[in-house]
Amino acid sequence: MGEYKIAVIQGDGIGPEVTQEAIGVLKAVGAKFSHTFTFEYALAGGCAIDACGQCLPAETLAACKGADSVMLGAVGGPKWDSVPNAQRPEKALLGLRSELGLFSNLRPAKIYDALADACPLKAEIVAGGLDILIVRELTGGIYFGERGYRKGKYGVEAFDVEAYSEVEIRRILKNAFEVAMQRDRKVCCVDKANVLETSRLWRKVAEEMKSVYPLVSLSFMYVDNAAMQLVRNPKQFDVMVTSNMFGDILSDEASMITGSIGLLPSASLGDGTFGMYEPIHGSAPDIAGQNKANPIAAILSVGMMLKYSFHLEKEAEAIENAVKMVLEQGMRTPDIYSDGTTLLGTKEMGKAIVECI
Ligand code: NAD
Ligand code: IPM
Ligand code: MN
Repeated sequence: MGEYKIAVIQGDGIGPEVTQEAIGVLKAVGAKFSHTFTFEYALAGGCAIDACGQCLPAETLAACKGADSVMLGAVGGPKWDSVPNAQRPEKALLGLRSELGLFSNLRPAKIYDALADACPLKAEIVAGGLDILIVRELTGGIYFGERGYRKGKYGVEAFDVEAYSEVEIRRILKNAFEVAMQRDRKVCCVDKANVLETSRLWRKVAEEMKSVYPLVSLSFMYVDNAAMQLVRNPKQFDVMVTSNMFGDILSDEASMITGSIGLLPSASLGDGTFGMYEPIHGSAPDIAGQNKANPIAAILSVGMMLKYSFHLEKEAEAIENAVKMVLEQGMRTPDIYSDGTTLLGTKEMGKAIVECI
């Protein structure tokens, strides 16, 4: 019934392998629910540097802006590690996020019942499941602050500035409070307010916003404690809202609690419904090209696309249920494999999920 144009940036390493499976799943959803998804492929990251000497070609940005949403695999890899900073593959990702105005990154960490034993924590710590949403600020902070080299006390020194405006803080906190209203109504603002001025501004804005959302309980936690609490008692968290860099680090930690980084999807959103959807993992050079990557994070990311950009709730649910089903049937990629389960490759996992749609 609907027609949706999706820009696809496969990227590097396992990026093309996992996006291919996510596209297969979208096609299956399209066939089942009578939607037409069209895909426009664009280059970004290392492959774009190789093809045209630029990590984020103008055509790619234009393709994204002309689409209803964007799906991204992953960028980067050792081949381009010595490229100058301004043209590193990762710069493409930062450029896309900032040029597309995608300041709000939702990273949900859920434990599937069937994967309870893939969680490295003791069973009692995660008994009854886990459902955390990390809301990561995505276009500000130290990732986008001034950086460079200057003469310092001991000679040349490098610097990277963490800066946040009230406007940037307010809009991400608003998203966190709004989304908490749809969940367990708990927001934990993770920061380093015992040291950082930016964190103290986050706290001030959060305190102000609390009165607008009287039903939401707001707490504050230092990021070092939060990293520890995530493995001591992760179930205490509902929504964790935090800065760009803290969110990056904590979401990798949270993903492992769910069994693997290959499971955790993300949605990058701005003011409207346009979004970019990508697994939180990277290009995994160590397993690239070997049909070993777990495509579930990429597949769940397009599920988030259906939900957040296209408001196709039952279609998004169909993807989540299909993932649940294959896991319940004991199908596993190497990252979550254990004795007694069935080992599948990237392609076979994608196909199994398609069959469950
Ligand atoms: P990574 O996430 O690529 O890999 C970390 C570890 O997790 C590796 O052992 C890898 O094999 C494993 N892993 C990751 N995804 C997996 C999956 N889907 N299935 C199974 N195992 C998986 O992180 P890294 O090694 O620190 O970074 C590699 C490159 O990726 C770097 O160039 C980095 O900058 C880039 N990167 C890109 C993104 C992105 O494009 N969104 C995100 C993170 C890292
Ligand atoms: C992520 C990645 C990126 C980030 C890198 C590749 C720039 O780690 O999406 O989590 O730090 O945002
Ligand atoms: Mn990361």
